[in-house]
Amino acid sequence: MSMRIRSVVCLVFLLFAGSVGIDLVKGHAQEAKIPSPTPTPRPSQNDDFGNVQVLKGVRDLLPTMHFIRASLGVRCDYCHVTELNKYRLDDKPAKLRAREMILMTRQLNETAFGGRQVITCNTCHRGSTKPVSIPKIATNFVNTTRVEPFEPPPPTLPTAEQLFAKFESASHIGRLGAARLRIEVNRAKLVDGGTPSARVLPRADRAITEAVVDGEKGTTATRLSTGQTSRVGSLGDRIWVAGANGIQWITAGDLMLSKRKINPLLILRLRQDDFASATVSGEEAINGVDAYVVNAVGKDGVAEALWFSKKDGLLLRRTYYHQTLLGPEPEQYDLTEYKSFGGIKLPVVINASYLDDQHLGVLKRLLEVKLNVLIQPADLQPPTAVR
Ligand code: HEC
Ligand code: HEC
Repeated sequence: MSMRIRSVVCLVFLLFAGSVGIDLVKGHAQEAKIPSPTPTPRPSQNDDFGNVQVLKGVRDLLPTMHFIRASLGVRCDYCHVTELNKYRLDDKPAKLRAREMILMTRQLNETAFGGRQVITCNTCHRGSTKPVSIPKIATNFVNTTRVEPFEPPPPTLPTAEQLFAKFESASHIGRLGAARLRIEVNRAKLVDGGTPSARVLPRADRAITEAVVDGEKGTTATRLSTGQTSRVGSLGDRIWVAGANGIQWITAGDLMLSKRKINPLLILRLRQDDFASATVSGEEAINGVDAYVVNAVGKDGVAEALWFSKKDGLLLRRTYYHQTLLGPEPEQYDLTEYKSFGGIKLPVVINASYLDDQHLGVLKRLLEVKLNVLIQPADLQPPTAVR
């Protein structure tokens, strides 16, 4: 990625952080600055990082670093001196070990999996610096050798098509057209995620976003605590961000991720022709609700998983997996408190979580939903005069 695109992405990132009503906390602002490009463009792809030896050809090192960090259950400072310009230093043994591990993981994938990225740091580490080599004694089996005749047969699973259709008849989401939304946005931190005591701690001030959305198109205006209004919009094929330096256009990179930030209702869209494949892989409980899990790959090649409530067919969670150099990085949405708006059921609470601490959790609550509004093309254009 060229320097210019990088800096635009960086800017957009900051603006999106702003658009959820946050002034970057000190530590984060500093962290965000680390991988940003130096002002003078230089020829090679990695020159803005001083000491990248194995993760070459990287577009953006930060998601990969968060992938490592979360796989080992550590903070950046486990491997780095976390100060500006010191990330390149190799003075912590864990960083050197991690570099060896990157090579080892690559080699495993080359030799055993035909070069596919199957083994990742998390395959062994699972959130710990000390992988466990000893299997647990306890199992759920009645007989550890073979199935007993009295054991219940494995459940028969519905097909993905059936689950998609059930969601449609439960929600009528296919009827959703242009809408005007008033959204309360809270940046949050999930504590004890995946356990019965999981809870979300608010981390900063709440903001109100006014959005006009229609599928992949839309605009949002968020009043920041600084008194300024942050505006972002999508024309479908490109996204604009209104900032202090005027309008920035984004035409490359992960546009879908940005579109989901502009229109959180996009997460509910399940058009058969958006998917290259979709299969039901099993059952799992999401926050205590029994669900079927669908593994899917979008037409754009992005892998995702969807969880549908067994009881009412509603979509409980949708997770998109973004490719990093070492493994897939999740972008997860939990959908709760479904309510009917003019015959269409929408989740009032949409909780987004990421590995990246910059936006670890963003909790959105729909305060107002106006359906079937009229959007003129001009409504989607960036403001002409930007302060
Ligand atoms: C488990 C160890 C580990 C953790 C945790 C880790 N990193 Fe790294 N980081 C590395 C290694 C190893 C490299 C060098 C990769 C290479 O040589 O290709 C690196 C390189 C970098 C670089 C490039 C430095 C340069 O100029 O050469 C930056 C920036 C960076 N990491 C930031 C971070 C941030 C931010 C975090 C926390 C989100 C983080 N890292 C967490 C191991 C780690
Ligand atoms: C095939 C399993 C496996 C994979 C894959 C793997 N590791 Fe490890 N890693 C281990 C084991 C086992 C240890 C502990 C070895 C020991 O005790 O000496 C370890 C230790 C480490 C340590 C030292 C931890 C400490 O004690 O300070 C780091 C850092 C590390 N791994 C990073 C990584 C990173 C980064 C990746 C992904 C690029 C990775 N590992 C992938 C098995 C793995």
